[in-house]
Amino acid sequence: MRHIMAKSLAPTDSVRDYLAAQEKKSLLRFLTCGSVDDGKSTLIGRLLSDTKQIFEDQLAALERDSRKHGTTGDDIDFALLVDGLEAEREQGITIDVAYRFFATPKRKFIVADTPGHEQYTRNMATGASTADLAIVLIDARQGVLRQTRRHSIIASLLGIRHIVLAVNKIDLVDFDRAVFDRIVEDYAQFSRDLGFQTIVPIPMSARYGDNVSGRSDNMQWYSGPTLIEHLETVSVEEAAVEQPFRFPVQYVNRPNLDFRGFAGTIASGAIAQGDEVVVAKSGKSSHVKRIVAHGGDLKQAVAGQAITLVLDDEVEVSRGNMLVSPAARPQVADQFAANIVWFDEHALLPGRSYILRTETDQTSATVTDLKYRINVNDFAHEAAKSLEMNEVGICNISTRAPIAFDPFAENRTTGAFILIDRISNATVGAGMIVHSLRRAENIHWQSLDVGKRVRADMKNQRPAVFWFTGLSGSGKSTIANLFEKKLFATGRHTYILDGDNVRHGLNRDLGFTDADRVENIRRVAEVAKLMADAGLIVIVSFISPFSAERRMARELMADGEFIEVFVDTPFEECARRDPKGLYARALNGEIKNFTGVDSPYEAPEKPEIHLKTLGKSAEEMVDALEHWLNERDIAEDQYDNGGGI
Ligand code: ADX
Repeated sequence: MRHIMAKSLAPTDSVRDYLAAQEKKSLLRFLTCGSVDDGKSTLIGRLLSDTKQIFEDQLAALERDSRKHGTTGDDIDFALLVDGLEAEREQGITIDVAYRFFATPKRKFIVADTPGHEQYTRNMATGASTADLAIVLIDARQGVLRQTRRHSIIASLLGIRHIVLAVNKIDLVDFDRAVFDRIVEDYAQFSRDLGFQTIVPIPMSARYGDNVSGRSDNMQWYSGPTLIEHLETVSVEEAAVEQPFRFPVQYVNRPNLDFRGFAGTIASGAIAQGDEVVVAKSGKSSHVKRIVAHGGDLKQAVAGQAITLVLDDEVEVSRGNMLVSPAARPQVADQFAANIVWFDEHALLPGRSYILRTETDQTSATVTDLKYRINVNDFAHEAAKSLEMNEVGICNISTRAPIAFDPFAENRTTGAFILIDRISNATVGAGMIVHSLRRAENIHWQSLDVGKRVRADMKNQRPAVFWFTGLSGSGKSTIANLFEKKLFATGRHTYILDGDNVRHGLNRDLGFTDADRVENIRRVAEVAKLMADAGLIVIVSFISPFSAERRMARELMADGEFIEVFVDTPFEECARRDPKGLYARALNGEIKNFTGVDSPYEAPEKPEIHLKTLGKSAEEMVDALEHWLNERDIAEDQYDNGGGI
């Protein structure tokens, strides 16, 4: 992220007075959003310049650049001040979130300059997550666009309640009141259900400064505030201090044996020495002994302050937990409903496992049910099987471990999370929790007396899941079948889960889209887990083309129990064998989404067993598998006899 900040100045008295005055002013965080070319950068440049935050040398550089790149003739092109990167200038778009600081005598401002290009919704969401107000920029010639709607919906989801509808480039429609009124009316209609508390429309020309800081002489019909007047006076009181105490623990600070404190930033509410606090997940309570801050101990602290809390007794508070007020506790659940904004070019697929990260906690999570997608044009709820890039939807989420949270509507910090792709580590979505699911509260683990170990011991074997993956026709079923026969002959208890067979029963409702394959594998992994729990040696024979789901299956099983077997037969060979005639039809275009043809196969990178089948018989492959199994069992016996479990 780029910053344009005041340059450091010599610490003279007047500067100290100036800084002291700044300290006392209230702070408004806002963002600008809209489409490409509607003048965001120009507006921000104008705000910075009109509030005298542009330093002389920057101005000089700007004049030089304007002559080189500018689109405004001899006038200074303010967009150039903001669009700092050469690459962006050449493309004519802004591609990053830039936070800028400026101030007027009445207030301080931090503005997140977020890009307008369609694929940068992620940055818009990043900017919006900390803002109190959004300036929605509209090009007076264009009116309310798809992008305007999308960004307004995201702003609303991210908890923004105050909007300035900046109808820009009004000079290009001859300062026409009718144009302005129509846009205001359009936007009011569209945003009716978005829950905004204030929408203040202002006709302006960012380029010429009309109604930005100075009142325009060109629009006698407009009697509302200028943009600066409004930003200086709009009341967005942060109620964070009045909300219940929430302290997400960032880390446990233990420099020596005498000191143990919990460090973090207060997300909401206030805390004083002696107050009772509760650990959100365990419900254990304690009292605050000390509040340690940068300059020394405090008697009390409020939302926004970074502190370290020392408690009366040694309660267990791991990272990822929250210390909260005993009177108003957050929810703790592993299933909840949430709004999701999807950023990634690979669609969100229900059933796929992602990493879910809250302010301090992290666990794996899947979308169990995508309820609907929100149409950004008319707010309609549309049925959807996946969420594509830039789409917004509501879904049920299930996490592996419970997390502590508040509904996003009550707390923008403890109610938000991001989703991270397990393979690429990229942030792929942002979520806002709506409420926990009742059913999660009503379903508990039933403890059973006969366990996995005794069930397996009775069969005199160790459970295992041999997960065969490979192209259709690679030989998975043939090898699996022969392998099972051999195991059976040596008295092992086994079961084969075969793709074609399971698709006739349990998974008969699924086809071959990415989303359906993910669900196919999720279900069969759960079944394999149950079978391993029953003490069986399970052989799973599915194409299972995606690394993410194979990894999910691996993580579901006990350590060492999942054995990935890559049945590696080249595509050409599978197509040549074509045992079911499917390749011929797929290559003819008669079958859609066929693996290896128009649907991807992600080969395993480190399978436990790699079977290169070309020129080998099924028997040779099975020998390799048996060998592997025997080695494992011998190794485990040695471990057991050496004082294991
Ligand atoms: S998976 O990709 O979801 O793991 P699965 O192993 O269950 O696939 O099913 C694959 C079998 O379905 C193939 O062996 C083939 O017989 C049949 N099949 C039918 N259509 C397709 C298709 N479009 N892609 C792959 N296999 C298909």
